[in-house]
Amino acid sequence: MAESMQGLKRSHRCTEVSNENIGGSVTVMGWVQRRRNLGALIFVDLRDRSGLLQIVLDEECVGAEGFAKAQTLRNEFVIAVVGDVQRRTAAVNENLKTGEIEVVARQLRILSESETPPFPVEKDSQTKEELRLKYRYLDLRRPDIQRNLILRSKVAYLMRDFMAKEGFLEIETPILCKSTPEGARDYLVPSRIHPGSFYALPQSPQLFKQLLMCSGYDRYFQIAKCFRDEDLRADRQPEFTQADMELSFVDMDDVMDVNERLLQYVFREAAGVEIALPLPRMPWQEAMDRFGSDKPDTRFGMELCNVSALVDGCGFGVFTGALENGGSVRGINAKGQGAMPRKKIDKLVEFAKGYGAKGLAYLSIHADGTYKSSFAKFMTEEELHALVGAMDGEPGDLLLFAADKDKIVWSVLGALRLELAKELGLLDESRYNFLWITDFPLLEWSDEENRFMAMHHPFTMPMEEDWGNIDSDPGAVRAKAYDIVLNGTELGGGSVRIHQNDVQEKMFEVLGFTKEAAHEQFGFLLDAFQYGVPPHAGLAYGLDRLVMHMVHTDSIRDVIAFPKVKDASCLMTEAPGTVDAGQLEELCLLIQD
Ligand code: AMO
Ligand code: AMP
Repeated sequence: MAESMQGLKRSHRCTEVSNENIGGSVTVMGWVQRRRNLGALIFVDLRDRSGLLQIVLDEECVGAEGFAKAQTLRNEFVIAVVGDVQRRTAAVNENLKTGEIEVVARQLRILSESETPPFPVEKDSQTKEELRLKYRYLDLRRPDIQRNLILRSKVAYLMRDFMAKEGFLEIETPILCKSTPEGARDYLVPSRIHPGSFYALPQSPQLFKQLLMCSGYDRYFQIAKCFRDEDLRADRQPEFTQADMELSFVDMDDVMDVNERLLQYVFREAAGVEIALPLPRMPWQEAMDRFGSDKPDTRFGMELCNVSALVDGCGFGVFTGALENGGSVRGINAKGQGAMPRKKIDKLVEFAKGYGAKGLAYLSIHADGTYKSSFAKFMTEEELHALVGAMDGEPGDLLLFAADKDKIVWSVLGALRLELAKELGLLDESRYNFLWITDFPLLEWSDEENRFMAMHHPFTMPMEEDWGNIDSDPGAVRAKAYDIVLNGTELGGGSVRIHQNDVQEKMFEVLGFTKEAAHEQFGFLLDAFQYGVPPHAGLAYGLDRLVMHMVHTDSIRDVIAFPKVKDASCLMTEAPGTVDAGQLEELCLLIQD
């Protein structure tokens, strides 16, 4: 039977009890992690969010009734204990913060009983994630998840603290918004009052924060929930959190400066990591050429090498064919992997195909300097020699080449480079390689849509020196956009915004919007820009991703209290679910079979 806690007041969390309390009385409350029955003595490991504390129950101190109660305790019962702190009589546990002490109970109350949980509540759980997510409220009791969420809370607090000191105002923006077609797919909410009309959940507070700049709030910050109906990955959720900001009367360097100091502060205070400023910067083109990625992991080398000029006119049709199609041939050198067995290389080829490659050409250099290769027979000795030289190939190395359109070659070799680094243990977890990527292209051609799309978003300012080419060579216009990358993930991104109506209208035109369509979608922004708008710029972090890096997890679900799984459902609440016919009727919705 559950007892009340009337008359008791918790004096300490479990690990707040320390050697300083020896000889004193404490009142602690929490969950039974483990009970050990030694006959005359019962030991209980009491758990709360701070950690574990050992409770000793003997009949003499806790009384006959209390001792009888103690014998019924099972894992996950919630109890209250009033007792005296003493130095441990048995062995000290050096792994515990409270390992030198124990509480001898004078009073025990069972505040709530528990069924046997479907899996043990323990660190480094071996339980399958589906089961843990179904019972997420139990999973959240585990110390590793608790540590993650506690750190997340600290990061959010530190960010707010820093931003407030820098003069940013925290302003909330709406969740029920208007759908805008650019970007990811929207989550829609049907309107009851306006049948046939829909709100969209915000993909980011982008337009609102720009309007706040028009309204003179000059420095805005928000920890904002964002929603995107896109395919989920290990670091993507349908609803996620941005640490979002916007500043007026600034240019790129001002935004980068305040963000570098923010990152330095948060990593120092939350993770004990010291970041040296200023952070390095790399233009987008260089990142693609050297790493095949706009979010390069610079903790290791294995950089891409463009060998197009060398293989131009060689006898290998795969290479020359790609060049004739306007593509390139590039390679990476997997140092010391020359002895990789054929089977393993075949696996790499399959991996590459997953990224759009038609194949992967390889050349192993044996210790005696001879080659084993999928294409050597098509080349002369001189051509091979020059190729190996350009790749810095030495005996014992494995050279891998992709030949295709640049975009595919980059994506294949960029991914392969990371995959090999993972396999070869080249990723040093103790390093935090921050990097700004700058000079992004403004536009990106979409074969699917057969038009240019904004690479960041349609409100991003072009580089003044490139804007003149917007009609003759739109693909070559660079943007005042910047991403902040950490160890190969995009932590955040932002841009200087367009604040001139003529530039904004031209941008919509390039993106294929008619004047009417642009006004229909973004009229309020274009209108606002007619009433005095300051130059402004901003950035948003993926807060979930930032915390992932601090706790060294590959799964975004480990840093979100109630995450969704790959098919965007919640295993605990079983959302999304059907609704009853009355609700549909009220919304004038019909579901097609
Ligand atoms: P962007 O679309 O680059 O920019 O988003 C900013 C950051 O949000 C994180 N992020 C995600 N995290 C988890 N799950 C997702 N599905 C997801 N999608 C994005 C990434 C990303 O870098 N309004 C602009 C910012 C600006 O220009 O100020 C924006 O939303 O870490
Ligand atoms: P094939 O001529 O198709 O038999 O290919 C000969 C070799 O070239 C094989 O090792 C293929 O994996 C490789 N290969 C095929 N297409 C490409 C490509 N686009 N880029 C790099 N290597 C390729």
